[in-house]
Amino acid sequence: MMKKQAIIVANWKMHKTAAEAASFIKAVAASVQDGAPDSLLFAVPFTAIQAAVDAASGSSIKIGAQNMHEAEQGAYTGEISAAMLHEAGASFVILGHSERRRLFGESDVRIRAKVKRALASGLRPLLCIGETLEEREAGEIEQVLERQLESAFEGLSYLELERLLIAYEPVWAIGTGLSATPSMAQEAHRICRAFLEKFGAGFVPLLYGGSVKAEMMRELMAEKDIDGVLVGNAALQLGSLLQIINWRNL
Ligand code: PGA
Repeated sequence: MMKKQAIIVANWKMHKTAAEAASFIKAVAASVQDGAPDSLLFAVPFTAIQAAVDAASGSSIKIGAQNMHEAEQGAYTGEISAAMLHEAGASFVILGHSERRRLFGESDVRIRAKVKRALASGLRPLLCIGETLEEREAGEIEQVLERQLESAFEGLSYLELERLLIAYEPVWAIGTGLSATPSMAQEAHRICRAFLEKFGAGFVPLLYGGSVKAEMMRELMAEKDIDGVLVGNAALQLGSLLQIINWRNL
């Protein structure tokens, strides 16, 4: 009998209006029974945060954002601050997603500043790390993960580290339908866990992301260092997300 709890995070990316988000989350909340064994979080578009928070009220579902600017405030046209997200009801924020790193040029240094700012503003950072296919083929997984973690952790106190969530998302597995096998994911998670332990923070939850589907959940969650999943595509349809949420019954 497996007792381990899963942290299941839906990353909606640039999908769903406020109205769509509200009806989806109400439907999920209605079908998640009281005392659900897992934690359920939704990273929604900025404009859907407030509606999603209202829809989730009375349930244990948590709502968060997918990005933010690192400055407290200022002349940054089109950007959004941590305080704005917090006020809208976000409790966490995804930072350093590979789409942000790759498509929007976010550097490790910038992501570090975002992690700091999120923590200072009362948001829990969900830091994403992961290697590209070239880095994997060159045997550089360990160096890449350690570099990304080390950079994000610089200057954080133990109390701040305690509030992090980390997602290992191999870049080649995101949105490609090509998932890492549970043992590949476990190997990367083992590297991250060992690194966290050096800071006395081995308890920080480590999630796997990259083409997660319901049928992989049992095997993924059976791995020692996998504490949950970050789900993109399969979190957009109610049916496939509910299957992931109900992974114990599959
Ligand atoms: P995917 O996305 O499940 O569609 O691969 C995961 C993510 O980008 O967080």
